[in-house]
Amino acid sequence: MPILFQPPLPPAYRDLGAEEIERRIRARKREFGRRVVILGHHYQQDEVIRFADFTGDSLKLSQIGAQQTQAEHIVFCGVHFMAESADMLTGPEVKVILPDLSAGCSMADMADIDDVEDAWDYLAGVGGVQPVPITYVNSSAAVKAFCGRHGGACCTSSNARAIVEWAFTQGDKVLFMPDQHLGRNTAYAMGIPLDRMVVWDPQIVAGGLTAERVRGARVLLWKGHCSVHGLFTTRQCDEIRKLDPAFQIIVHPECPWEVVQKADLAGSTEFIIKTIREADPGSKWAVGTEVHLVNRVAKEHPNKTVRSLAGIQCLCTTMYRIDGKHLLWALDELATGHLVNQVRVDEQTRREAVVALERMLAHVTAQPVAIKRA
Ligand code: 13P
Ligand code: SF4
Repeated sequence: MPILFQPPLPPAYRDLGAEEIERRIRARKREFGRRVVILGHHYQQDEVIRFADFTGDSLKLSQIGAQQTQAEHIVFCGVHFMAESADMLTGPEVKVILPDLSAGCSMADMADIDDVEDAWDYLAGVGGVQPVPITYVNSSAAVKAFCGRHGGACCTSSNARAIVEWAFTQGDKVLFMPDQHLGRNTAYAMGIPLDRMVVWDPQIVAGGLTAERVRGARVLLWKGHCSVHGLFTTRQCDEIRKLDPAFQIIVHPECPWEVVQKADLAGSTEFIIKTIREADPGSKWAVGTEVHLVNRVAKEHPNKTVRSLAGIQCLCTTMYRIDGKHLLWALDELATGHLVNQVRVDEQTRREAVVALERMLAHVTAQPVAIKRA
């Protein structure tokens, strides 16, 4: 995604206090009623998530977004690719707003559509290699459309395994983009050995792979990652176990494979929240995911010990760009008839991307599925 420019807020918003922001957002919500639906991803800060009509992981929010046929506007408190998906999964009568346009995702930016097309062309030239392209939803609409065009699908961390299993009914190789870690963790959990996975580096000619390595691989992993989850290490796992062996380690599958191997459990944000909610009082949890989620879960379960796996703040800075002031500004503008920060996908891209998104939505289970269980 090109970096989108978010102009500074009008001066009237700069010095607003938390109480006034809350009062005014609540008043706007009452005024709009069901015409405006606010969706909030679990990584949003408390000052924003409390206004969400629905919260969830990427999969749940895609499902809920797709159901909002009665709303006039969806205000997406999350990042750009989530707002794009909501736009593509709803009709043209539902307008999607991202309160701060600079809330992107560095992982999504690691799969540029031109690089993806180049990789595809190269692979086609390597005698008979035609993988099934799978993209994590953390990707641009253009990459999703590419997958739709070439018989592939989207997935989230909640259903990556089901989608990769489906992909292997369609072909004998998978190209997994853009998160190499989610791809590796998922394929490994399915029993695919590490030596049958190769990393495609879009910065190097021919992905940095010989034709022989490409032919021998079952899974081609795009060289992308999440900078937040890349901060979790095996050393932190060792240290926490040394500190207190009663700690259970639960991590997001965007963490490196080595970390997931050391963890007791791995799954999406929804899976992490549900697991800790249902755990015994007195249980202890070290959590490898974004800090706002960890702090909120800790606050909601005072009878359990919940802390970050890392001793440092693992913060998604782009999710953090959505704050109460931007949310209030977007709602105020809407109330005066100005649609600001609309996220729109062109019709051709939407048509192709929806094919991949619908395959993703066809592989949903009632409960979030773990990538790894103890
Ligand atoms: P989930 O909420 O789907 O687990 O995804 C985490 C994430 O990084 C969203 O960008
Ligand atoms: Fe992107 Fe990582 Fe932030 Fe998720 S946590 S939005 S993958 S940068």
